[in-house]
Amino acid sequence: MEKQPFFYDITLRDGNQSLKRPWNINEKEYIFNLLMNLKIPAVEAGFPASSEMDFDTCRRLAEISPENVTISALARTVENDIIKAIEAIQPAKKPRIHTFIAMSPFNMKYVLNKRPDEVQKIAIEAVEFVKSKLGKHADIEFSAEHFGDCFENIDFVIDSFKKVIKAGATTINLPNTVERTRMKDFTDLVEKVYNALPKDISISVHCHNDLGMATAATVESYFSGAVQLECALNGLGERAGNTNFYEVAVALHNSGVDVPIDLSKIYETALIVSDMSQISIYEKAPIIGPEALAHRSGIHQDGAVKTKDMEKGAYRAIHPSLIGRKDDEKLGITSQSGKTAIYEIITRAGYPFTLQEAERITPIIKEAAEKAGELPTCTIIDIYFKEIFNVKGAFHFEKLEKIKENDYILDFTHNNESFETEGKGNGPIDACLNALKTFGFEQKLIHYEQKAIDDDILGAGATAMTVIKLEAPNGKTVIARGRDENTAEANVKAIFNGLNIISKMN
Ligand code: KIV
Ligand code: ZN
Repeated sequence: MEKQPFFYDITLRDGNQSLKRPWNINEKEYIFNLLMNLKIPAVEAGFPASSEMDFDTCRRLAEISPENVTISALARTVENDIIKAIEAIQPAKKPRIHTFIAMSPFNMKYVLNKRPDEVQKIAIEAVEFVKSKLGKHADIEFSAEHFGDCFENIDFVIDSFKKVIKAGATTINLPNTVERTRMKDFTDLVEKVYNALPKDISISVHCHNDLGMATAATVESYFSGAVQLECALNGLGERAGNTNFYEVAVALHNSGVDVPIDLSKIYETALIVSDMSQISIYEKAPIIGPEALAHRSGIHQDGAVKTKDMEKGAYRAIHPSLIGRKDDEKLGITSQSGKTAIYEIITRAGYPFTLQEAERITPIIKEAAEKAGELPTCTIIDIYFKEIFNVKGAFHFEKLEKIKENDYILDFTHNNESFETEGKGNGPIDACLNALKTFGFEQKLIHYEQKAIDDDILGAGATAMTVIKLEAPNGKTVIARGRDENTAEANVKAIFNGLNIISKMN
């Protein structure tokens, strides 16, 4: 069984340093509390040598940090950085110093302008210096910056790791400082390091998302031996950002790994962090994006609706509640959508409707969407009212008058020709159908239901709803509805709606 992943948050350091307006001490404290709610066990609070504000923030977070949370500060492999970092995190119950130097051939030559043996010496001395200050139980993280570019000199890098471990490093961090190539190239290097180092050393990965593979690289690195995963809320970080914490946590959870994080806080946290960083969550962002749970094609909508209450959904990676999303899977109605989604939208809105009716009005809704693009729910409901309760067609009901018991006069038009006829029958429905029969419009009533409407959902004044099933002369059946404050009128309206539906079917 794998070890539980150890999440090391870098939002307040790598994330913060990339913001157009870095957070102040209060804002950082606010984010820190969000991290505590998520149950993140280690936080890189800042880079104290970079500014007075960062120094003060690290100190503040160290002061308020709970006893089981590691508070880390970043320092280059230079004495002054290390002294400042140690001073800043001293109040923490579990302090850590994170020191780093580049080890890729390219960076050593062109940026540091140093030979590998010089770089290695600096690294070892820096770690020794931290240890001399913090004592034998010092928690020291060492990073070989640009590790992802160390294919050619990996043996040198591993040798350096062994030496910094001897000097006191307890965590070896492998940054993909710039993501340039295949994810597997990186995870192969991670595995090589894991195999070469003592097993009591914690291997860490820190991935940037330059090519969009940081989540994958981090998840796969975990399976290659990295137990510490450096991630940022909302994927904040330099350039295209760091590894997105939410995606990694959920991907590992979905892979059956025990993730010791409160996943249900993810969605809320993401919205707050977006607000505070002034970086919006893009529409298609995995799991937290406004569109991440939207379905527009009929096939997807059908699968989504059929599995909506199940933990595993036909067309979603997670149940929204896993990350605390209250909104259900969104069904967007476009020309690509299907009857299941339309049925779902109208019934969710509380209106009486059947799947058969949905099938009938779906082409009308899709036609409207073809012209207008995605339709808002109010437009769908408008179409519903028109096509269910006020079906336009050849028949038009004018009036029904009771002249005596079981005897009615019915006025209507058919193709604009007016008709007035007497109909006898057991109640208005029967009389109306008999009256229509005398003009050759014969329909068979196969189901009748009368419903009182108590909450006025069908519009002002509508207190009665009739639902009927009619069989047309060709054997087809349709469901039709009528609504009115008068039950008899609701009945007859249902018949005329049914006649118009049938006449359009022929
Ligand atoms: O990306 C990087 O290499 C870093 C190091 C400081 C770990 O942020
Ligand atoms: Zn970084």
